[in-house]
Amino acid sequence: MPIASFPATSLQPLIEERLVGVIREFEEELASPHPPVARLCRHVERYRGKMLRPTLAIVSGLAAGGAAAVGSRHERLGAVLELIHMATLVHDDILDEADVRRGGRTVNAEHGLDAAVLLGDYLISSAFHLCSRLGDPSLNEELGRVTGELCAGELLQQEARDRLDLPEGELVEILRLKTGVLIGAAARTGAREAGGSPTVVRAMEAFGSAIGIAFQMQDDVLDLLGTEADVGKSVGRDLAKGKLTLPLVLARELSGPQGRANLDDAVRAHDAMTVRRLVAATGALEAARDRAAAFVESARLQLRELEPSDAREVLEAMAAAVISRSR
Ligand code: IPE
Ligand code: MG
Ligand code: MG
Repeated sequence: MPIASFPATSLQPLIEERLVGVIREFEEELASPHPPVARLCRHVERYRGKMLRPTLAIVSGLAAGGAAAVGSRHERLGAVLELIHMATLVHDDILDEADVRRGGRTVNAEHGLDAAVLLGDYLISSAFHLCSRLGDPSLNEELGRVTGELCAGELLQQEARDRLDLPEGELVEILRLKTGVLIGAAARTGAREAGGSPTVVRAMEAFGSAIGIAFQMQDDVLDLLGTEADVGKSVGRDLAKGKLTLPLVLARELSGPQGRANLDDAVRAHDAMTVRRLVAATGALEAARDRAAAFVESARLQLRELEPSDAREVLEAMAAAVISRSR
């Protein structure tokens, strides 16, 4: 989350210093002697946004082991997490045929489909190259599995396209895989690198996974309701691509047969205005926000495993911010 929205804490300068280190690791890993490659990588550096995953790895480390336990290894780990995330965004914008991300043009819009496919591959291999330089094979093993689960989530979502009767449980499992597992891994690996106990490490994973699911639920609400200018990326892509999201699934549950038929027609026609109106009329937006808030609450319960600290306060604030954000 934007670091500025954190509660004023003595940790802020330390977190920011570590994030500067993350950016340095990220840029060093992507430095290329080949000008066309360097140019594409610079484009991705413009995508830098909330830095949620590196921030979470750093703050989890601070909460689990204190300031002395969070140094250059966390900076490198943060860069690995951000590189994995960037690779998935570059490929996701191809799938979504999206033109705008973080207020600028996407790689596919600016440089074409082929370059975007290849750049996504370049980023993911850079992530695992940098991960290897941490010298801990178990991290490679773990982040390899997590990245596979993320891709499986995207594949399941692809497979579920246009399946209007997708059950809520299946949808939440897709959200957990595509977004929850990497954020969970950020919290877990950050805590473990700082020497957290197995109980704390497990709690941090559950915390990250739950805020990741809530984050994706909010993302889906913004895709349905937001404007490109406010959200800073192309919106309406889920509907355009037949991707089922929580507001739609809940609106169908909350509708009678006629309302459901009307909604299904509007979804199939990719008629965003009508979908928005019908979804709003069922109360599904409030219901989706309640579901997201429940995941945030379950995340917060995990924080009881941590000793009280400023870092724990920051984690509380991050949990709240994933659903209050508007971009
Ligand atoms: C896909 O989710 C990104 C991943 C989690 C892999 P979205 O399609 O909702 O992401 P945005 O909205 O384009 O950022
Ligand atoms: Mg997308
Ligand atoms: Mg989205």
